[in-house]
Amino acid sequence: MNFTVTTSSVHEIESDLEIVFVVDENIDHPFVKEKKILKQYGFNATQEEICFLPEHGKLYVGAASLKSEALRPAAAAAMRTLLGKKGYKRIKVALYLSHPRCTASLRAMCEGLLLGAYSFDKYKSKKSKSPVKEIVVSLEGYESHEIGHEAALRAIHKAEIVADATNFARNIVNTPPDDFYPETMAKKAKKLAKKLGLECTVLDAKALKKEKMRAMLAVGRASRHEPKLVHLAYKPKNPKATVALVGKGLTYDSGGLSLKPGDFMVTMKADKSGSAAVIGIMKAVAELGLDIEVHGFMGMVENMIGGDAYKPDDVLKAKNGKTIEVRNTDAEGRLVLADVLCYAQQEVKADYLIDFATLTGACVVGVGQYTSGVMGFDETLKSEMKRHAKIAGELVTPLDFNDHLKKTLKSTIADISNISNTRYGGAITAGLFLSEFIDDDHRDKWLHVDIAGPAFVEHAWGENPAGASGAGVRMTVRMLESVAGAKTH
Ligand code: BES
Ligand code: ZN
Ligand code: ZN
Repeated sequence: MNFTVTTSSVHEIESDLEIVFVVDENIDHPFVKEKKILKQYGFNATQEEICFLPEHGKLYVGAASLKSEALRPAAAAAMRTLLGKKGYKRIKVALYLSHPRCTASLRAMCEGLLLGAYSFDKYKSKKSKSPVKEIVVSLEGYESHEIGHEAALRAIHKAEIVADATNFARNIVNTPPDDFYPETMAKKAKKLAKKLGLECTVLDAKALKKEKMRAMLAVGRASRHEPKLVHLAYKPKNPKATVALVGKGLTYDSGGLSLKPGDFMVTMKADKSGSAAVIGIMKAVAELGLDIEVHGFMGMVENMIGGDAYKPDDVLKAKNGKTIEVRNTDAEGRLVLADVLCYAQQEVKADYLIDFATLTGACVVGVGQYTSGVMGFDETLKSEMKRHAKIAGELVTPLDFNDHLKKTLKSTIADISNISNTRYGGAITAGLFLSEFIDDDHRDKWLHVDIAGPAFVEHAWGENPAGASGAGVRMTVRMLESVAGAKTH
């Protein structure tokens, strides 16, 4: 999809359809030409409410305000209406800004348009593609607020990069486990590296053995697909900071011998969402040309059953020498992350170390399916992630560690158990387990983001479609833009 920006007023632009935002239920705004019809149809212009008038060449959508958080999902809802329809190639839209000379709302609207145009129809005979090829943005403002042509183009360019990266992550997560296994991620990463000039290293089982990553290897042992650790690196000339990202990449989580019940196994193709977020962020950071060095480490494994499967009662030795009593093979993500976090810290001395994982059902129970839990030892870092998530249109809530929960991970036979001895606080105990594999140097630089809820939701919500959302990409790119000192809109 292509964007063009023009100084022509909206009515002068030729198009197949105009998307009109009805802001704050103000149907009397001069932009709303079909007032009578809208009223006849009982259109109240509540947030994301749609009134499609193809015979008038208009698609009306309600937006609660001109703020990013209202415009982004409203724009997405409008584009979703067009999925699978034909004949709407060229769309036009006016400029909706919340403040003079501030392009934040424009960026959000364009992100919403692109995120809403996403469909995953590879496996459907009847396709549901978006018909839209071109979006013309007029600089004629809804309010009298103005921005320059160049500023508008820059904002749109960023929106395109971030939305493309999100959709890229969504495709990975939505792909079925028989078509996306550890080797698939390795290939994807190599292809991306070639295109964007990144470095790419892939560790196979033999290399993982050499690196003493026995916890990760144990999880993958019963699968016919070899585990892979994929390392992507973006290294600009004079970076302002170094960032290490780590992603849980369970291409399938059957639970292993602690097998999941049937209902709980469905959607576990999405257990690779952490790794998908990492590769998506790498793509966006490189395309934005941010002035920071960024490393992405993806622990790609399939958790299966079989005669060679790792077992409850096994004791594993992780890369840092700590021993782990396996009491549940379905708590596998933390075993993979333990080793990959150790490897990442060995390879890079990072100013920021952030891991992403669909780690616990408990996180979803605790904070709901739309919100990620963020954990770590540094309060400022946690609140910075929350702040950038809000700007980017993602929901994050801090989950605080405490020493009482830490004790519940004690093991009588090994240094630590892979599950806690209480059924409460499962997201936090998983985070505390990971903290055992963080060096002192990285303690205050580390964030753990549990994306188990928002990574994959079976209905459309906000700017997200049913299925994979690309959780983690947008908030982290925003945070890294700020670390790199780039203007964020
Ligand atoms: N991948 C799951 C967590 C998950 C659950 C993600 C639901 C998305 C939606 C993880 O590997 C897992 O199975 N965790 C267990 C941990 C338990 C055995 C301590 C869980 O949450 O039940
Ligand atoms: Zn599991
Ligand atoms: Zn899992």
